[in-house]
Amino acid sequence: MQERNKKASLGGGEEKVAARHTKGLMTARERLEYFLDEGTFQEVDRFVLHRCNDFDLDKTRIPGDAVVTGYGKVDGRPVYVFAQDFTVLGGSLSKVCSEKICKIMDLALAHGCPVVGLNDSGGARIQEGIDSLAGYGEIFWRNTKSSGVIPQISAILGPCAGGAVYSPAITDFIFMMKENSYMFVTGPEVIRAVTMEEVTMDDLGGASAHTAKSGVVHFVADDEKKCLLMIRELLSFLPLNNRENPPIYKTNDPVDRKEMSLRELIPINSKLPYDIKNVITAVADDNYFFEVQSNYAQNVVIGFARIGGRPIGVVANQPNYLAGCLDIDASFKAARFVRFCDAFNIPLVSFVDVPGFLPGTDQEYSGIIKHGAKLMYAYAEATVPKITVITRKAYGGAYIVMSSKHLRSDFNFAYPNAEIAVMGSEGAVNILYKNDMKKATNPEEMRKEKLDEYNEKFANPYAAAAKGYIDEVIFPEDTRQKVAEALDLAYNKRETTPPRKHGNIPL
Ligand code: HXC
Repeated sequence: MQERNKKASLGGGEEKVAARHTKGLMTARERLEYFLDEGTFQEVDRFVLHRCNDFDLDKTRIPGDAVVTGYGKVDGRPVYVFAQDFTVLGGSLSKVCSEKICKIMDLALAHGCPVVGLNDSGGARIQEGIDSLAGYGEIFWRNTKSSGVIPQISAILGPCAGGAVYSPAITDFIFMMKENSYMFVTGPEVIRAVTMEEVTMDDLGGASAHTAKSGVVHFVADDEKKCLLMIRELLSFLPLNNRENPPIYKTNDPVDRKEMSLRELIPINSKLPYDIKNVITAVADDNYFFEVQSNYAQNVVIGFARIGGRPIGVVANQPNYLAGCLDIDASFKAARFVRFCDAFNIPLVSFVDVPGFLPGTDQEYSGIIKHGAKLMYAYAEATVPKITVITRKAYGGAYIVMSSKHLRSDFNFAYPNAEIAVMGSEGAVNILYKNDMKKATNPEEMRKEKLDEYNEKFANPYAAAAKGYIDEVIFPEDTRQKVAEALDLAYNKRETTPPRKHGNIPL
């Protein structure tokens, strides 16, 4: 047994392991040992062998084949894991590799535990043909079945192609390293052959391509160790499955802490930008915010924080970027996050400062109507506690979308200088008084007069508060206390929805 264990530990052999170490990379088993609580990793299926005899593969039957699978603990909580072993045929997926991964996924679903997959694979094992495709199909099916039941997290820790990127795409969060991580469906050589387009691995599928451009990836880490630590941190905000509440952590940060800095943080002049992340950190326990997708669609900010030790999902418009307008990418980014939080019982706290949807032909032709509707749908469908704080502007459709009362938010607060209306005063006056101004002896004077009138009437939170659309106008410094109280009240919220197979979100 010891002999066999030793052979299995070496994966693709000493030379290949040494080559990885020279590159500064860990082996699959080393990654799992590092990721899990010390001494908790239990490997299963260590002696599984592939069954392919074509292309001389019968001469390379390595115990365990190209994936290491098992379970262990993170902060004392159980988690199922797999890590592809690039030293064995480039981590490529054989039928038995898929069977090993599927066994782990089945156990995780049955036991209500998250699955963390460390991907490092050239995709379907070419020599196995249709069998390896069948293997991927089995994994994708399980990814889909598990979606919204157990958290599924993927890390891309090497060059990942084909099926090795589609399974992560169905999971909840994807991590990459700044270097040595690549994701693509077809690589640079295939692209050159088919379209004659020249592109480097980095430009095509490196971390910056996927964090800033495609929005496929949620987190990027400096190296693999930091990446694994970030996954541990993400898990600390999540329940083990959809029937649990997220774990509560002890905090010494008083929930009634007044945060006077919030008085100064938001410029009175509603055209001036500010960083909404300063508002989020001011309100969160220990001023800590774990941001998701920080480089993508920066006009909306999403991520996890805690208030009174309880995890929350934060969605916030970012006035520092595109004035905080909602566009296609921002709607998609925020909608998926809202749905994740709703699936896993994580209350949503939304900070709203939004002038509207981004205008333009580019947005319209690319389908802002259906993409913007995703966020509307996601908020409306979410039954977790929803708390909204309007820090300044909330205009038009974007006001409705951003967790308004009308989408069944539980508590809606607004700061005294909030502006809640169909549109900003300039646009409104230009439309309402276009003809009158044409006829006026002094159109400019009339415009100013009408602007003052409109601002007086609508550029405040009281018109909405008078109708009960805002529950309370609050001082900025009281935000943390107000949100904490609201979260407390809504902790046991239960909302039933009509029976149906599933809704039809505008995908
Ligand atoms: C079998 C593979 C393999 C594969 C790599 N290897 N990919 N073996 N099937 N898919 C083997 C190589 O032959 C090599 O073996 C070893 O792994 C290391 O690969 P290298 O090419 O030397 O490494 P590197 O230069 O780092 O390049 C890594 C790579 C490249 C970018 C992943 O290997 C590559 O482009 N592979 C093919 C990617 C691909 O097109 N896969 C099929 C996807 S189709 P030796 O013995 O020399 O060490 C797919 C279908 C599912 O996945 C789609 C579902 C939607």
